[in-house]
Amino acid sequence: MDTSRRRHRVDHGRATDAVGRNPSPGNPISLPAGDAEGEIRGAGRWPLVSDMVRVRVPAKVNLHLRVGARRRDGFHDLVTVYLAVDLFDELIALAADDFAMSIEGEGAGSLPADPNNLAWQAASLLATHAGVPPAARLTIRKGIPVAGGLAGGSADAAAALVACAELWRIGASRSELAAIAAQLGSDVPFALTGGCAVGTGRGELLSPAMTSGEFHLVLAFADHGIATPEAYRILDRMRGDIAPTLDLNGSRVVLDALRHNDVPQLAAALVNDLQRPALSLSPGLQRTLSAGRELGALAAMVSGSGPTCLFLVDSAAGATRLAAALAAEGVCRRTRVVKGPVPGARLVR
Ligand code: C5P
Repeated sequence: MDTSRRRHRVDHGRATDAVGRNPSPGNPISLPAGDAEGEIRGAGRWPLVSDMVRVRVPAKVNLHLRVGARRRDGFHDLVTVYLAVDLFDELIALAADDFAMSIEGEGAGSLPADPNNLAWQAASLLATHAGVPPAARLTIRKGIPVAGGLAGGSADAAAALVACAELWRIGASRSELAAIAAQLGSDVPFALTGGCAVGTGRGELLSPAMTSGEFHLVLAFADHGIATPEAYRILDRMRGDIAPTLDLNGSRVVLDALRHNDVPQLAAALVNDLQRPALSLSPGLQRTLSAGRELGALAAMVSGSGPTCLFLVDSAAGATRLAAALAAEGVCRRTRVVKGPVPGARLVR
């Protein structure tokens, strides 16, 4: 990290002078590339810095998830194709003298607003990395269901990195944030980048994937959660000593379908090795999946470690129809129409 930028660190007496500060082009405030920031740069001005930063971060689904052998560090090697969808958490960071966190929205009561929260750990790790005091008030507004197999916790950690890097004027590059993200969790780097990507390693090594157009999905949320480690543990138990080998070939059909907006091909290629363990932990999900197929989904699958189920359809109108029909069947807590790809954690105004 460029230590010369540390002079931009939190200065508790700067409420007004911080606003509109105009750093020299040789030492710019580094912001993640987002639409709004891009427009300002295009107009030849530096973005305004304020004592409040808002970040929006998407949920992810895995369109392809192959899990390999358990590694010595307890994680599993995997090959996955991530897609970021327009279901968001929001994180607001305010300048403060100390560090505090609060959580609002769906499932907030079941989450720790303390050092056990991955977003708290993200802020703390970033502060250590940059040599700045970890001083901020973070508010997380949950829109992504908790423990739903949609990487909501990872999303909040990515949002905390982007928000605190901006609030503390650290000048961290995207690749520096990505390196910190990888230390926090397997899905955190993808929550930073968003879009569509192939993940290898334990999911943290990303290669961008090309897509054409939008892909429409319906998500069906359950009335309970599944702990990710539990899904992996059951998978190991189901497999016994047979360690599957992983290769990138399996993901190629999915990547080809994404590149050509070939929805039927994508539907035929969806796969998730964590579906079996998720169904063994939540047998009722089988009914949700079957109902979606009967109601016209091109494909139905558990999302990540579950219990959220995803249904692929070929249009926005089809998604709206399926979401309503599924909700009427009473086979899930709630449905939601989503589309992807969308960008990862971004500053919003
Ligand atoms: O990386 P993350 O903290 O999201 O992982 C949560 C848990 O999921 C891990 O502690 C591990 O039990 C399991 N996991 C795994 N292999 C992966 C990713 C996650 O076993 N590639």
